[in-house]
Amino acid sequence: GPGPGNGNGDGNGDGDAPGTGTRGGARRGHGSALGEPVVRLEGREKVTGAARYATEHPVEGCAYAWPVPATIARGGITAVDTAAALAVPGVLAVLTHENAPRLGDPGDATLLVLQSPRVAHRGQYVALAVAETPEAAREAAAAVRVEYAPERHDARFTADHPGMYAPERVNGGLPADRVRGDVGMAFAASEIRFAAAYRVPPLHNHPLEPHAATALWIGPRLRVYDSSQGAAPVRRALAVLFGTDEELITVVSEHVGGGFGSKGSPRPHAVLAAMAARETGRPVKLALPRNQLAAVVGHRPATEHRVRLGADGMGRISALSHEVFTYSSTLEEFTEQAATPGRFMYASPHSRTTHRLARLDVPTPSWMRAPGECPGMFALESAMDELAIACGLDPVELRLRNETAKEPDSGRPFSSRMLAECLREGADRFGWRDRDPRPGTRTEGRLLIGTGVAASGHPASVSPAAAEAHAGAGGYRVRINATDIGTGARTVLAQIAADALGAPLDRVRIEIGSSDLPQAPVAGGSSGTASWGWAVHKACRELLYELARHGGTPPETGLSVYADTAEEVAARTREYARRAFGAQFAEVQVDRDTGETRVRRLLGVFAAGRILNPRTARSQLTGGMVMGLSMGLMEHSTLDPDFGDFAERDLAMYPVATCADVPDIEVRWLAEEDSRLNPMGSKGIGEIGAVGTAAAVANAVHHATGVRVRALPVLPEKLL
Ligand code: MOS
Repeated sequence: GPGPGNGNGDGNGDGDAPGTGTRGGARRGHGSALGEPVVRLEGREKVTGAARYATEHPVEGCAYAWPVPATIARGGITAVDTAAALAVPGVLAVLTHENAPRLGDPGDATLLVLQSPRVAHRGQYVALAVAETPEAAREAAAAVRVEYAPERHDARFTADHPGMYAPERVNGGLPADRVRGDVGMAFAASEIRFAAAYRVPPLHNHPLEPHAATALWIGPRLRVYDSSQGAAPVRRALAVLFGTDEELITVVSEHVGGGFGSKGSPRPHAVLAAMAARETGRPVKLALPRNQLAAVVGHRPATEHRVRLGADGMGRISALSHEVFTYSSTLEEFTEQAATPGRFMYASPHSRTTHRLARLDVPTPSWMRAPGECPGMFALESAMDELAIACGLDPVELRLRNETAKEPDSGRPFSSRMLAECLREGADRFGWRDRDPRPGTRTEGRLLIGTGVAASGHPASVSPAAAEAHAGAGGYRVRINATDIGTGARTVLAQIAADALGAPLDRVRIEIGSSDLPQAPVAGGSSGTASWGWAVHKACRELLYELARHGGTPPETGLSVYADTAEEVAARTREYARRAFGAQFAEVQVDRDTGETRVRRLLGVFAAGRILNPRTARSQLTGGMVMGLSMGLMEHSTLDPDFGDFAERDLAMYPVATCADVPDIEVRWLAEEDSRLNPMGSKGIGEIGAVGTAAAVANAVHHATGVRVRALPVLPEKLL
């Protein structure tokens, strides 16, 4: 069962081995749970099917909903005929823009479902069927007849699109453009000049559990079980949409089958479920069919990258220019912040990083794992590989020569930065030293073998959070609206609490995943553990203090402490640039007859602060690397300019890497002590594994074949 010391998941060598007590445990001289490879607290519930996901909560008298997507890319609805749908046995209602309740504006146009006859993109919902069974709802949805007046649409993304403009801000509230020095002049004066364009296609999140919700109204109160990365923003949006008090709404996200960013904001399915429940007076379950996800829950938009690097004869970068071109829908301005890696990765006295955006008649892009960094680092780290070749330098050495003590863009010192150590450790472990840099020189029969390297970096963000800690006869209870999207959040928070309380893990009960709990940020931006953990730590420490005042034992009624971290987070995050770093090494084989690429070995070495649970951390980093490999070799969605929508609609057409695609994947981390981050000394690890991996793979493919693939993914036909 759950418990510490179940140690065979580790294997990161010295200092990280379970039970050595060198980190964390040593601080108070007893075996702390922090740093131990604790198995997931809900693991048994999950593998036995007892864990309940959004539409698995038993609800009396439930009805089912099925949405109807628009079949045009732009235009107006001229007529809706629901007669045939209403005639389907078991149908309770068919909602359209004509009869759906009016919604308040939550500041996100993708949530304003069934509010107008306008169609902004193909796949946008135009009707909703509600019935006694899912089958009847589906049949009724198919029977809804919608007539449109289509208008000319524009769904063709190119970097020279005439509608390109500079948004004021990109994702994360970052400035669209940053300029230091004079890039044009410095580039022209550089001894070595390299320029190229790179492309990343649209990518889809496709979590295993599609987006789903159960909604029920009890009088004025609304309860929603939602598959979401954060219940609080869903509650806030629903309150505005339905014109009710947040206090009257509870959103529960107890178990979530993955999200990868697509569940990081409220999505229309939850709105539709709540709407249907209100209109029919019945609890309503709505699970989106996977083939609708591509258009309604976000995707990573395609990006085109123009990169220029100027360097001196020693490989020291003098000019770095990274221009990103991307798109959003007409509904929302979403700008993938893909030029940001150039702002923090390397010393670059002259730098220019910009974003341009076109608004197209397409589904709205949104968060996808490591937004910005993931596609941006593919371009930058491919360009670094090309620059190394142009300089006649080893690609590891080139990166080491461009190390920087201060974050170039902000001028702030890093709280810690161990990129150089990751590169050196990775090179040693991978056997990089023996590498012959000439492409196409290593063969095994008809297989061409190559190796590649790329760096990774990701912000180590933190947001304010609140938590409640309680001591009673039964032990400790910690409550916080954190979300476990499969990462092991519950487990690591219990470890943080036990450590802060100086208590064994089995004395701590953790309650997360409901908007009724103390408020905390969503599981996103690799900031969950740092943000939630800080609040949990603070509440537990204050509880200990209160307990001491009561002579060490809680009163009969128990003792509760509420803490929030708004002040310390604001105070402690200004001075230093806080980022995690890593180095990715890949070995590939390319079949010279078929062009098929297989990754033979993948090694990631990361410096991400203190690793709080090596078992779940390894799982996070491995998962990220597999996703990066997948992005490198296979994942892509095709935005069909005629239809205005994506051709790939399921996991047959949108392939993702499986175990068989990754025979040997190794994750390591360095012992990084950074007391400036948060009380645990941790950096986020949810996304950095996916950063740089695709570049390492593409760089290895170049080494194997001599072919430089600058437009992902590395499909066989690009190598023949
Ligand atoms: Mo992640 S894309 O910040 O959920």
